[in-house]
Amino acid sequence: MAGYVVVGSQWGDEGKGKIVDLLGTHMDMVVRFQGGNNAGHTVVVNGQTVILHLLPSGIMNENALCIIGPGVVVNPFVLLEEIRSLQEKGFSCSNVRISDRAHLLMPYHKYIDALEEADAGAGKIGTTKNGIGPCYADKYNRIGLRVCDLKDWDVFQEKLRVILAKKNRQIVKLYDGKPFDYEEMLDQFKAIRPMILPMIIDAVDKVNKALDEGKNVLFEGAQANMLDINYGTYPYVTSSSPTAAGVCEGAGVSPKKLGRIIGIAKAYSTRVGEGPFVTELNDETGEQLRKTGNEYGATTGRPRRCGWLDLPVVRQAVIINGMTDLAITKIDILSGYDTLPVCVGYEINGKVYDTVPASISDYEKAVPVYKNFKGWKEDISNVRRYEDLPRECRDYVEFIQDYCGVRICLVSTGPDRESNIILNPLI
Ligand code: GDP
Ligand code: IMO
Ligand code: MG
Repeated sequence: MAGYVVVGSQWGDEGKGKIVDLLGTHMDMVVRFQGGNNAGHTVVVNGQTVILHLLPSGIMNENALCIIGPGVVVNPFVLLEEIRSLQEKGFSCSNVRISDRAHLLMPYHKYIDALEEADAGAGKIGTTKNGIGPCYADKYNRIGLRVCDLKDWDVFQEKLRVILAKKNRQIVKLYDGKPFDYEEMLDQFKAIRPMILPMIIDAVDKVNKALDEGKNVLFEGAQANMLDINYGTYPYVTSSSPTAAGVCEGAGVSPKKLGRIIGIAKAYSTRVGEGPFVTELNDETGEQLRKTGNEYGATTGRPRRCGWLDLPVVRQAVIINGMTDLAITKIDILSGYDTLPVCVGYEINGKVYDTVPASISDYEKAVPVYKNFKGWKEDISNVRRYEDLPRECRDYVEFIQDYCGVRICLVSTGPDRESNIILNPLI
């Protein structure tokens, strides 16, 4: 089967962008299926670093059609800016397409996200403030505007008139905020419409035809399992399904068409925003991981919270996604430690669990049960063959494989496309 999936197995920022770019060189199509510009996917090719928010990370391969799928929420202003900045770097972006079914992320969504976070005070989620939650809420409340609405200007004007009146009431009455001007917003959309229209396609038809013709199609997850609306640390999650199941929903393809489901796991843990994080290190070691791993948000620039590898988290992602493979990234960052603790369970109210609890108050009480691994001192960033890794490093990798019950396909030792040890060919 020619449908490939890349998904995050922790709290995001595992290095999905790097792996999608690597696979993207063999792809006919790369498809985003959920999320929006809350994503920050870093791709490093020939010394050039590009951070992608809405565009699929296959964009460096101009032969691959890059599709923003039906399940994505699209801020068209951010999209056009991203395209412009990539064009400045020499990429034509003529291979970008947008699903007619994708929802438009509107200026009021972004504003409401910021108002809601401010209103929540200490109870805030720590969102990226890009309007993702409010846009999905409107989608499910059936008051969203979709990309296809832009095609018929009369339809768009009328829908916006009705919806904006409602949104303005919410903004003013609930949050004492500043209402948006209808005419001004119409003008903004009128200005960008000619750039957006040529990119709109029936993505469901396009993707399914490609799969049926045996073409290589890669579905690129944003965020990760622990940020999933159903299986993450609710309410400290994003508002979509960043899982393999989310591909079917958000790209309009049958589960039968998905072949390899590749999960990405960072060799340690990071999290941005609020919410439980059992292995978090609020000490010098955490600071060292942040510094050597350059753990600062690719979207918001916020320092990422850092901690040891949490395997119940990764295994839950392996199971929920039905991962066929796991790629381990940033193992190079772990060089130099005497001991590397790995969390293999949680002690909650005197009992040990190896699964992730639903209740946040239980999860906040959890004390990590660690298995200690011997560290290694060598710099491994230039290692390209598995047998050349220090014994201790191989023990670490093999334990992940055994604990999670999934084969490791790749170990990444640096940010650029070439820094990989391939254990099982990806294509
Ligand atoms: P994504 O959101 O999952 O695509 O990940 P991000 O791009 O937000 O964060 C991953 C960061 O780690 C980026 O800066 C990557 O360039 C970098 N990176 C990816 N893989 C490796 C690796 O194996 N080693 C090192 N040192 N950096 C990596
Ligand atoms: P990539 O694709 C890490 C986090 C936010 C916040 C929560 C909800 O780069 O891995 P949202 O703006 O989505 O409503 O915020 O989810 N978050 C991410 N954390 N990587 C991401 O994306 C994220 N996208 C959202 O920090 O805690
Ligand atoms: Mg990221």
